[in-house]
Amino acid sequence: MLYRKLGKTGCEVSALGFGCMRFPIVGGASAVDLFNPNKPIDEKLAGEMIDTAIDHGINYFDTAYPYHGGQSEGFVGKTLKPHREKLFLATKLPTWLVHGRDDFERILGEQLTRLETDYLDFYLLHGLNRQAWASMKELGALDFLSRALAEGRIRYAGFSFHDDVKIFKEIVDSYDWAMCLIQYNYFDENYQAGKEGLAYAASRGLGVVVMEPLRGGRLVDRIPEEVQKLWDSAPVKRTPAEWALRWVWNHSEVAAALSGMSSMAQLIENIRIAEGASADALSESELQLITRVRESYQSMLQIGCTGCAYCMPCPQGVNIPLNFSLYNDTFMFKDEDLNLMLYNHMLTPEQKASNCAECGECEEHCPQQIKVPEELQKVHARLAQQADNAAT
Ligand SMILES: NC(=O)c1ccc[n+]([C@@H]2O[C@H](COP(=O)([O-])OP(=O)(O)OC[C@H]3O[C@@H](n4cnc5c(N)ncnc54)[C@H](OP(=O)(O)O)[C@@H]3O)[C@@H](O)[C@H]2O)c1
Repeated sequence: MLYRKLGKTGCEVSALGFGCMRFPIVGGASAVDLFNPNKPIDEKLAGEMIDTAIDHGINYFDTAYPYHGGQSEGFVGKTLKPHREKLFLATKLPTWLVHGRDDFERILGEQLTRLETDYLDFYLLHGLNRQAWASMKELGALDFLSRALAEGRIRYAGFSFHDDVKIFKEIVDSYDWAMCLIQYNYFDENYQAGKEGLAYAASRGLGVVVMEPLRGGRLVDRIPEEVQKLWDSAPVKRTPAEWALRWVWNHSEVAAALSGMSSMAQLIENIRIAEGASADALSESELQLITRVRESYQSMLQIGCTGCAYCMPCPQGVNIPLNFSLYNDTFMFKDEDLNLMLYNHMLTPEQKASNCAECGECEEHCPQQIKVPEELQKVHARLAQQADNAAT
């Protein structure tokens, strides 16, 4: 296993980290089961995967309060207990469950109990975006983190992030963070924090851990014919997973890439790739090939949204770029289950396309001249319609 320094913490973390959000589930799983408490983790197989990961030098494990409907932390805690001292354990504060100052303490206490440990190596504010960040500041999250650090209940404080790069930089500059967790893969090079945010955080000494290096599996599943042809044209034969992971590890600013592996075969493959993936190892022609793959995917876009977010904030609270991204994904990645789950369960009613009041304010700001209200109707018709179908 290759190890990399996690920013100013100096911790040597394995290039491949274990994302504990997608363990195998008894009876098999689909994306909609990731937060379902009634779908038990296949503890035998998942336990064997964790042992294999540790045997191969993986030392970074990332879980969170809601994963597997709350089962992940408990399972990870008991499984890692015999190895605790030699591993880095990260979990996240469910920011959306904090409504008052006491909630911070109560939830951290619950997480330490679930994880069967006295301390967390990394404690992240989960899923920060503009709204969550405002609410966390108001509720005193930063004081709470400083207290937990001083008391030794957490060793390092960080945050995970899903919003645009402007708010990302504001958060980076607002506290003495040790690290952050960002979505980063070759398709999302300029999405959310993106490469600009990666460079910014690294330049300020934050360790950067990457989530969704395979875009949650969408860069490896049901590959469109035109994309597969491009991969097949490469002189070196690699699986789409290997291309995608190597692209992430090619960045020297990335400390670890987390993958949420759901089978032993995936774990073994990703360990093999990690063992040979140094920074700056891809050639110019390999990087060009990956760019052509990205462009091929992008040519399947239905709505030409680039995610610039000039349309935001919407007076109604609709998350316009996210709605468009989910809609486009159904055409590019053909992963209906995941997009349904995200639209129907992750977006608040306010953020959904159906909340559009057709005021048209957004249209005035869109550099792509997208007819936003019209397109939002299509988004809702497709994703909500399919949810209705799925329910019957
Ligand atoms: N804080 C946050 O907001 C947040 C959000 C997302 C994720 N995370 C964390 O980041 C971790 C990583 O994100 P992710 O799980 O989305 O990572 P990912 O690596 O992008 O996606 C994981 C999925 O990719 C597929 N996969 C993995 N290795 C493969 C291989 N070698 N060949 C073929 N398919 C492969 C599997 O899909 P199938 O199961 O369909 O086969 C797997 O479930 C998560 O587990 C979680 O710990 C945090």
